[in-house]
Amino acid sequence: MFALRTFIIAVAIASANALTSSLQQVTANFGSNPTNVKMYQYKPTALATPTPLIIAMHYCTGTAQAYFSGTNLAQLADQHGFIVVYPNAPTSGGCWDVATTATLTHNGGGDSLGIANLVRYAIANWGVDASRVFATGTSSGAMMTNVLMGAYPDLFAAGSLYSGVPYGCFAGPSAWNSQCAQGQLSKTPQAWGDQVRSGYPGFTGTRPKVQFWHGTADTTLYPQNFQEEIKQWTNVFGVSQTPTANISNNPQSGYSRASFGPNVQAILAQGVGHTVPEHETDTLDWFGLSSLTPGSSNPGNPGTTTPPTSTPPTTSAPPATTSPTGATAAHYAQCGGIGYSGPTVCAAPYTCKAANAYYSQCL
Ligand SMILES: *[C@@H]1O[C@H](CO)[C@@H](O)[C@H](O)[C@H]1NC(C)=O
Repeated sequence: MFALRTFIIAVAIASANALTSSLQQVTANFGSNPTNVKMYQYKPTALATPTPLIIAMHYCTGTAQAYFSGTNLAQLADQHGFIVVYPNAPTSGGCWDVATTATLTHNGGGDSLGIANLVRYAIANWGVDASRVFATGTSSGAMMTNVLMGAYPDLFAAGSLYSGVPYGCFAGPSAWNSQCAQGQLSKTPQAWGDQVRSGYPGFTGTRPKVQFWHGTADTTLYPQNFQEEIKQWTNVFGVSQTPTANISNNPQSGYSRASFGPNVQAILAQGVGHTVPEHETDTLDWFGLSSLTPGSSNPGNPGTTTPPTSTPPTTSAPPATTSPTGATAAHYAQCGGIGYSGPTVCAAPYTCKAANAYYSQCL
């Protein structure tokens, strides 16, 4: 019995460590990155095509490396074939900028712009599926997830955040907002929703769906923030604040999973403090990646034997827009740079702007 148990533990440790690839710093110049956020990517050897991308953001005092080793997103990336990018916060305290007007504004600057440009670069150069880019994070990284949902709804399909605060709750001159953290910043659903809409004025596309987790015993970011997030995201999606379903003891004892239609999900963890542990497989479910397998191209296909698509699996996929003469590059698509051979004219009303010698983008 003892030997069997030892064996099982040994296998568990071995499989946890046996990654097909390793964490690598992104050295390419991926565009404007005003606060110099460092990026680290985990790219498994076998990818799904086109490839989903998850941006995974650490807590204050954390690092990209710590979040890489402290969550099992990389193991899941091996299993499902997506890429994970772990940004590293540039401040000495290791917190994300979730307070400045720049970071809270679409293309306004701050930490969020560097991350947004990494996403655009990954779509243009890594074969990343523009319709399957996601964000997750813990604490400060959860706040940053909400920032990205509000300021870059065009880039993200969904977010899943652990123990954060609403988009804009920290807005102001200080990096830390005690009033918000202590759950004393209460606003109407309309005011919270307006704040999200102000992140990207005029945006009319589909917004990312948002899942948030919070513990009732959180004394760092008080659980009132969970209620404020419910107000915010139900207002953004124009749905009732009364859950359409609330399942007890899900996904585990003491947790409750409340849904407000298909786009807002609020999971409350009784007696859990700061922070709720990452539930990575649950987050993948929310992102719609649970049944994805390397090599497959159908996001919803539960089978593992998807027939090959007509596109041969080339290793360095050129932008899909490459071809007939006269083709134009779409908003945010690549339109120039060393080694690039696709369309160099942008679809109206966008113009081709050089980020660096290797990459120009339609902005
Ligand atoms: C869901 O139900 C639990 C009790 O089972 C409750 O504590 C929680 O507040 C409910 N969630 C929402 C969002 O109403």
